[in-house]
Amino acid sequence: MATILAIGIATLDIINIVDGYPEEDSKIRALQQRVGRGGNATNTLVVLSQLGHHCTWGGVWVEEPDGTRILADLHDYQIDTRYLRIETQGTVPTSYILLNQRNGSRTIVHYRRLPEFTYSDFETINLAPYDWIHFEGRNIVEIVRMVQRIQQLRPTLPISIEIEKFRPQIEQLFSLTITALLFSKNFAQAQGYTEATSFLTALRSQIPQVPFLISAWGSAGGYAIAENNRVHHSPAYSPPQIVDTLGAGDTFNAGIIDGFCRGQNLADTLNHACRLAGIKCGQLGLSIKDHS
Ligand code: FRU
Repeated sequence: MATILAIGIATLDIINIVDGYPEEDSKIRALQQRVGRGGNATNTLVVLSQLGHHCTWGGVWVEEPDGTRILADLHDYQIDTRYLRIETQGTVPTSYILLNQRNGSRTIVHYRRLPEFTYSDFETINLAPYDWIHFEGRNIVEIVRMVQRIQQLRPTLPISIEIEKFRPQIEQLFSLTITALLFSKNFAQAQGYTEATSFLTALRSQIPQVPFLISAWGSAGGYAIAENNRVHHSPAYSPPQIVDTLGAGDTFNAGIIDGFCRGQNLADTLNHACRLAGIKCGQLGLSIKDHS
């Protein structure tokens, strides 16, 4: 069991489950509505916590009713929230999500007007207990400084960063010497890649100093390139019916962190992450208790 800190967002997810993706400018009825906490870093922590790890969230939280709901959910999963930056004005970020019950696809419209977690917020965190630190790749300049702080105070502490979408200056994250970069398929595709192997091979020459470059490719499975340039692949473990892909990437990332924290090698870790993401896709939400 490891002690893991993740820096990123918590959102209010308003999920409308629909029978087929609607036409533009049409009016449809949702079959069901679920409202709850979301956000990549906190989703990853919720999975890690269920796998037995001690988890801490570092992020910005707003003191308002939806914020209270988010905090209650994190506390249900025993996630430590002592290092929150608390805002008294504003509202929590919101995602309006259409979940298509025919294929489990999720379409997210995200709204956020909130300051980011900064270096000075991060400085208040006592890094001593942590075995792994994970970041969402946002707020780039501040994250670079946070990583530098970790490396001054705890030079051997493993660090992962999720690269979900392109952001200005994101390449600054690629020059850091960290343990793992976790790329989304969307990011790779936005760079013009249609498959993972050429994407990771190209990245390897640009980013020789990061031992593990990893990417989840949905139904094509997971890919990773090791330091020796060897590309590893794990198939996807698709459930009989794909029910809900919301948070599948965040679950995959949890599987990667969990595997490495347990001392597994890259191939086994990749396989483990794909299995976990497959379980998630077969059910609504992120509860994996019944499968461990
Ligand atoms: C899923 C998710 C949702 C959230 C959105 C934020 O990966 O974290 O829970 O609303 O993405 O980008």
